[in-house]
Amino acid sequence: MLVVNQLTKKFGGFTAVNGISFEVKRGEIVGLIGPNGSGKSTTFNVLAGLYAPTTGTVSLEGQSVGGLPPYQMCQRGLARTFQIPRPFRKLSILENATLAAYYGASEPITRGEALRRAEDALTLIDLPRDPLAKVDGLGAAGLKKLEMARALATQPKLLLADESLGGLDESEMEQAALMLKRIRDERGITIIWVEHIMGVLMKVIDRCLVLDHGELIAQGTPSEVAHDPRVVEVYLGTDAHSVQQQVGREVAAEGA
Ligand SMILES: Nc1ncnc2c1ncn2[C@@H]1O[C@H](COP(=O)(O)OP(=O)(O)OP(=O)(O)O)[C@@H](O)[C@H]1O
Ligand SMILES: [Mg+2]
Repeated sequence: MLVVNQLTKKFGGFTAVNGISFEVKRGEIVGLIGPNGSGKSTTFNVLAGLYAPTTGTVSLEGQSVGGLPPYQMCQRGLARTFQIPRPFRKLSILENATLAAYYGASEPITRGEALRRAEDALTLIDLPRDPLAKVDGLGAAGLKKLEMARALATQPKLLLADESLGGLDESEMEQAALMLKRIRDERGITIIWVEHIMGVLMKVIDRCLVLDHGELIAQGTPSEVAHDPRVVEVYLGTDAHSVQQQVGREVAAEGA
C-alpha cells in the first residue's frame, strides 16, 4: 500500500524527520509512536502532502506521490485526521462530513451522494446524523470522532490517524482504539495510527514503528518493540522496567 524510502523533512536547518524508510501492507494497522517532538505529525504531514519531502520518496499503491498536494493525495485514497481538530464550527456535524465527502472524493460526485457518504461515516463513528446537531456540543472525544468521520467520508484506502489521545480519559481511549480496529475490520481500510501513549495502542496494532528525534529507531510487533532495549531506553525513559512489564502484560493478555 505505502512505501516510504529515505524520507527526510527539514525546517530550515532543523531536521524533523531524518531518512526514515518503512512499508505498510494493505489491511494493516500500524502504530507510529515516539516521544513528543519526535517527528510523528511531521511524517504524517509529508505523507498527506502538506509538506513536500526535503529528500526521499513516497509511493502509494506503486505510484510515486511525494510532493503531491493534499487534495490530490486525498483523491488518491489517503485521508488523515489532524492532531488538533479544526472543524467548521458554524456548520453542523453532518455538513462538516458532507463537505469532506464532496471535495475529497476520488471522482466527482453529486451532493446527494456526498450526503450519503457523510451519513455512512457518521454512523460508523457513532456520531449523530441529525442535520441540526451542532459541532459546539462536542467535547474532546467528540471532536476527535468528527475528524475521523470527515476522513472516512472521503472513502480512503489508507487512513492516517493522528490521534494523540492525551485529552481523553481511559474509557474514551479504549473506545477510540476499538473504533480504529472496527474501521479496519469492517471496511478493510489500512491505518497508520500516531500516538505517544503506548498502552492502548499496543492492543490493536499489528506492527509498530518507533521514532526518536526524527529517526526510525525500531519496528516490529508490539511485543518486539516493547522489549527492544533502544525503545525502552529512549522512549520509556527512567521507569522503563515497570512500563515494559506493563506493556508486555497487555500484549500477552491480548494474545491470550
Ligand atoms: N512547521 C514547522 N516549522 C518548524 N519546526 C517544526 C514544524 N513542525 C514541526 N516542527 C518541529 O519538528 C519536530 C517534530 O515535531 P512533530 O510535530 O512532528 O512531533 P510529534 O512527534 O508529532 O510530537 P507530539 O507527540 O508532541 O505531537 C519538533 O521539534 C517541532 O517543533
Ligand atoms: Mg504530533
